[in-house]
Amino acid sequence: MKRTIGTCYYPEHWPETQWPEDARRMADLGLTWVRIGEFAWSRLEPRPGDYDWCWLDRAIDVLTGAGLSVVLGTPSATPPRWMLDRHPDMLAHDAEGRPRGFGSRRHYDFAHAGYRDDAARMAGLMAERYGDRVAAWQPDNEYGCHDTVVSYSPVARESFRVWLKDRYGDIAALNTAWGNIFWSMDYDHFDQIDLPNLTVTEPNPSHALAFRRFASDMVVQWNAAQVAAIRAHSDAPISHNYMGRVTEFDHYATGRQMEIAAWDSYPMGFLLDRVPGGDQQAYLRQGDPDFQAFHHDLYRACGRGRWWVMEQQPGPVNWAPWNPAPLPGMVRLWSWEAFAHGAEAVCWFRWRQFPQAQEQQHAGLLRPDSSEAPGFAEAAQVAAELRDAPDVVPAQAPVALVFDYASQWAWEVQPQGQGFDHFALCLDLYRALRSLGLSVDILPPDTASLEGYALTLVPGLLTLSAPLRKAIDTAEGIVLTGPRTDLKTSELGFTTPMGPNLPGLDATSVMEETFPPEAPRGLEKGGGVDLWLEHLETGAEVLERTTEGSPVLLRSDRRYHLAGWPNRAAAKRILRDIADAAGLATLDLPEGLRIRDTGTERFVFNYASRPIDFDCHTLEPAGVLRLSRPS
Ligand code: GAL
Repeated sequence: MKRTIGTCYYPEHWPETQWPEDARRMADLGLTWVRIGEFAWSRLEPRPGDYDWCWLDRAIDVLTGAGLSVVLGTPSATPPRWMLDRHPDMLAHDAEGRPRGFGSRRHYDFAHAGYRDDAARMAGLMAERYGDRVAAWQPDNEYGCHDTVVSYSPVARESFRVWLKDRYGDIAALNTAWGNIFWSMDYDHFDQIDLPNLTVTEPNPSHALAFRRFASDMVVQWNAAQVAAIRAHSDAPISHNYMGRVTEFDHYATGRQMEIAAWDSYPMGFLLDRVPGGDQQAYLRQGDPDFQAFHHDLYRACGRGRWWVMEQQPGPVNWAPWNPAPLPGMVRLWSWEAFAHGAEAVCWFRWRQFPQAQEQQHAGLLRPDSSEAPGFAEAAQVAAELRDAPDVVPAQAPVALVFDYASQWAWEVQPQGQGFDHFALCLDLYRALRSLGLSVDILPPDTASLEGYALTLVPGLLTLSAPLRKAIDTAEGIVLTGPRTDLKTSELGFTTPMGPNLPGLDATSVMEETFPPEAPRGLEKGGGVDLWLEHLETGAEVLERTTEGSPVLLRSDRRYHLAGWPNRAAAKRILRDIADAAGLATLDLPEGLRIRDTGTERFVFNYASRPIDFDCHTLEPAGVLRLSRPS
């Protein structure tokens, strides 16, 4: 498959006379895709029931007439002001119970059935009109952006009660599942159950986790409604543009509803805004060397192999605490890194910088006066390289890592030690694997087969699903569980007999302790564990201990278990040893250098701000190297 490029365009922002020239310049640049429409509701339906499709008809004519393929977004992330008059209770509420107001975007509650129906109606009308003219669809925009999944609104409370009844059947079952006898929290009927905010002290963790599951389900139902409305009229593939480190809903579940997963990659904004363990000084103008790759691999899993970058940073953004300019070459590097991880398409956000409103300081490929912004030349370089280069041939990676949204919610509800976070744990281990030169696939928690993986990591999983348990049991490769894997029930209580109940590995946790960053536990072989340590009784071989003698790494044949959260030095050493045992060749990559192997090639990326020598080549900062894959 030929990898393709595109951009995000807002015809409603510009005079119609400008569209033909824009379309021509996009086509001349070598773009295939142009995404439009996702914020245009107030122009498409200026008053309730009063539609104006004509401008969009003409915009699509102009764009497709220039040879571009249109990705059409449905505009439900920006309900027009009149929608709020129609549904005054549609706003999401924060944890203090305050409604979040009109005047930006995403001002809706996923649980609001009335707005969900209106959004699906709009999606259906668009699909009816444009179903055979557009090449792909995007329902809504960035579910969960601006912290909008978890809402404590009256509407959410009503829906939560219905959801609970559906899940537990009767109130006695709920009381038992949550252990509500503790502190006399028993309920008599579902209508007494509130949302788990504004309690005097912490709410029951089972209650809080149920609410997080509910909030995720609301997004899944929301997406399903629009997907069904589009499908009724169009065969074009459907995708959604997910975010970096947005974990409030189960992206695998929405992913199963659509053909393609996409995500919006803003490496520098992310580094300053949300990368756990990111080195902001070293990578200020490059972005974190592992954060993008992690999401590429995660969303490849969500799209079951098919994924895009729907928005790629082209220059400074406007929303991070500081917004430096990318190091020259990074716009190109980020794009090639996405292709190396299997992206079908990379689209730069946005075509032209808009001189007003919230994002006036956000770079585009063009400046507001239509002259070329610095990112333009790099986009042109990628276009030229794509024309000449051989295609990227995707391949299964030798290493897998299981990432699970429900575990993220569970440990947010019950960190036990400040900072215990499933995402951060997975990213730390992913970093260590990548610093060893290993390519990784991310797998969902209901994975039923680990065939072909020499090594699989299963860190921090609330529980092991039945299929995954079986897959581990029958895996030929090495499986490394822990820390904090399978110690709890799915309701966030302890299992009895006590866990972890790991297939093929005899270990019982007698106590879990957590400690602050300034008090890590040293390991006998060097490095240490941070934050978390489970004290295990075990019949398995102990490969690593703390300096106090507590087992940290256990082995029983090809099953390994980690009892603590290894720091960087320990993670690298431990994973190198396990990779060796799995028969995998590792490297000791210099800080900032990263590799991705495809079926035929080895891509090498230099995120560092200094030149790095690799395999008889010198990579300049932001350098990209394509080599044949070593056999
Ligand atoms: C994304 C969003 C775009 C734009 C962009 C700015 O999160 O989808 O609409 O706001 O960020 O970086």
